[in-house]
Amino acid sequence: MKLFSPAKINLFLRIVGKRLDGYHELASLFQVIDLGDTLTIEAADHDHLTCTDPTIPTDEKNLVIKATQLFRRKTGLKIGLKVHLDKKIPYEAGLGGGSSNAATALWAINQLAGNIATHEELKTWSAEIGSDITFFLSQGTAYCTGRGENVRHLSPLVARTLWIVKPPIGLSTPEVYRTLGLKPTHLPPESEIAADLNKFIANGNHFFNDLEKPAFQLRPELKLLKDELQHSGFDTVLMTGSGSAFFCIGEGTPPLRPDLFCVKARFLNRSPINWYEKDNHGIS
Ligand code: C5P
Repeated sequence: MKLFSPAKINLFLRIVGKRLDGYHELASLFQVIDLGDTLTIEAADHDHLTCTDPTIPTDEKNLVIKATQLFRRKTGLKIGLKVHLDKKIPYEAGLGGGSSNAATALWAINQLAGNIATHEELKTWSAEIGSDITFFLSQGTAYCTGRGENVRHLSPLVARTLWIVKPPIGLSTPEVYRTLGLKPTHLPPESEIAADLNKFIANGNHFFNDLEKPAFQLRPELKLLKDELQHSGFDTVLMTGSGSAFFCIGEGTPPLRPDLFCVKARFLNRSPINWYEKDNHGIS
């Protein structure tokens, strides 16, 4: 089977505090977009991963392999996957590429195993190998809390066209979180945190990302790029996740520079029964 493996953006991302286990508690509105990789998958005796991008590890460090190992551990089945990954999503970008690949592989292996696991089980298991994977098992729009793995499904938002812009530098997620310099504290009550989602639903433009500050501290050139994009006619320019990619909404055009990865993208959702399809933006 051939499956689309989409990227995500964070329309807002609040860091609520640091937990005793070292993870950060967040509250974020996640949205799938139609920029994505393609996974060509078949059942096999052993896992075998190949990738168009030679810099991506294809061994047990890759979340696709972690996902198949997780599935075997949970179900006791011996099934493996032969996967070819056509990489289009930039990495170290905050676009969730690796997590998306893992969610896509989990969905596929379960299909190939005759849907032995329920979708709820896949969601619960997925949190064991990464914080963002559970989100991709939603339908494309979700409010995520905890370390990102508590996923509340939301109806599709009003369609938006945007630009994704990534500079050549990438950012390491743990390093960005570390640069926040937070100490574990008591976390505010859920009702206080929920205010952001209510604001977004009310006015549709409550865009912010608490990880921009530490990212800009680590790489000041990212702030310069944000300023440049803001002067290119966009209404909103925001870093996604832990960076270094930005999404830009509005009538602007990104600067024509060969070092920038720039693509136009749209919000993407899926129906409860089918996986994401690049050209099916509805949920039929
Ligand atoms: O869970 P995941 O592997 O995606 O996270 C990568 C790293 O990012 C974690 O090891 C942790 O350092 C940091 N992180 C965090 N709080 C989160 C998510 C990630 O501190 N909510």
